[in-house]
Amino acid sequence: MVKVTVCGAAGGIGQPLSLMLKMNPYINELSLYDVVNVPGVGTDLSHIDTDTKISYHLKSDDNNTGLSQALKASDFVIIPAGVPRKPGMTRDDLFKINAGICSELATGIAETCPDATVLVISNPVNSTVPVFAEVFKKKGTFNPRKLFGVTTLDSVRANTFISEIASNEADKAPSAFNIRVVGGHSGETIVPLFSVCAPHVYALEDENKIDALVHRVQYGGDEVVQAKNGAGSATLSMAYAGYKFLHAVLAATTGDTTIIESSYVYLDDSIPGAKETKEIIKGLYGGESLDYFAMPVVLSKEGIKEIKSDILSRVNNKEKELLKICCKTLAGNIAKGASFSQ
Ligand code: NAI
Repeated sequence: MVKVTVCGAAGGIGQPLSLMLKMNPYINELSLYDVVNVPGVGTDLSHIDTDTKISYHLKSDDNNTGLSQALKASDFVIIPAGVPRKPGMTRDDLFKINAGICSELATGIAETCPDATVLVISNPVNSTVPVFAEVFKKKGTFNPRKLFGVTTLDSVRANTFISEIASNEADKAPSAFNIRVVGGHSGETIVPLFSVCAPHVYALEDENKIDALVHRVQYGGDEVVQAKNGAGSATLSMAYAGYKFLHAVLAATTGDTTIIESSYVYLDDSIPGAKETKEIIKGLYGGESLDYFAMPVVLSKEGIKEIKSDILSRVNNKEKELLKICCKTLAGNIAKGASFSQ
């Protein structure tokens, strides 16, 4: 029996994500939680004739016990709760509001379902994941193998955008690519590693095209924010990406140990590959090593089995420079999140 809870289920991401999860054969119960509008979303989804059972909970239910009811016995909690960006805003601008929401949800998880695997979508991911970790540490429930910042949309965009450049080349549709994106999840902290994991794309022999492609992946979210013109940020592509990542995490619980996905994770020394990753980052950055980084991770029944540190030792000089810039910004983002709950 697998129970998944979506926190922020009535939102722009929450609704299509919940729809996809209702169709996932691994999930027996889908619990929907929000501060508004979730009875409508839950009732609507409950009419779909897939076997996944729907329950829905408002924060205000039964003297404000909605959160603990929603989270009770959850195996996985996925979190697209919080405010999205408007034109002119960076993900960092969202921190004040979203860190408070994340702290509240983390407290609920620690008290109600401390063994759950937690997937954080709420931005700025670079800082909200440390907020979760710090709350869990305080509560004595932190399991670094089961806390994931969802950065899948960066890889999804990288696969799509590179395929557009290669559109005249044979066998170069988006599905031909599996671009690993490392670092963090905002602007210059997003580092796509095209040199390591792409099949050769002739059009990219032009240096300017690579620079433009990297920039597009780093700032692809802005295209959506601008096109939506004040109505929010990516929701449908993010719901797809969140679903893709959760599906991979769920599939790994069946015992499959061949699944590798990129995610923003805590580099705990107990996880194989974490120490090596920190050493490589330290060497590139020249400063202190970082405790969090988006990396390809091998998934297993128990969460992260291994961090694939070797990918960082295969990057080219241009990507090394990008990683240096990434580390500088990321260090500040991490410190901001970590100090929030202190
Ligand atoms: P939205 O405003 O449409 O939905 C957010 C939902 O969260 C709303 O239904 C709201 O009622 C709910 N909410 C607010 N406070 C809450 C609380 N205390 N507990 C539970 N639910 C609460 O926003 P959207 O577009 O769905 O985005 C959600 C978050 O996802 C934003 O922070 C956004 O920046 C982030 N995002 C992350 C991406 C990623 O790649 N990780 C990509 C795109 C967006």
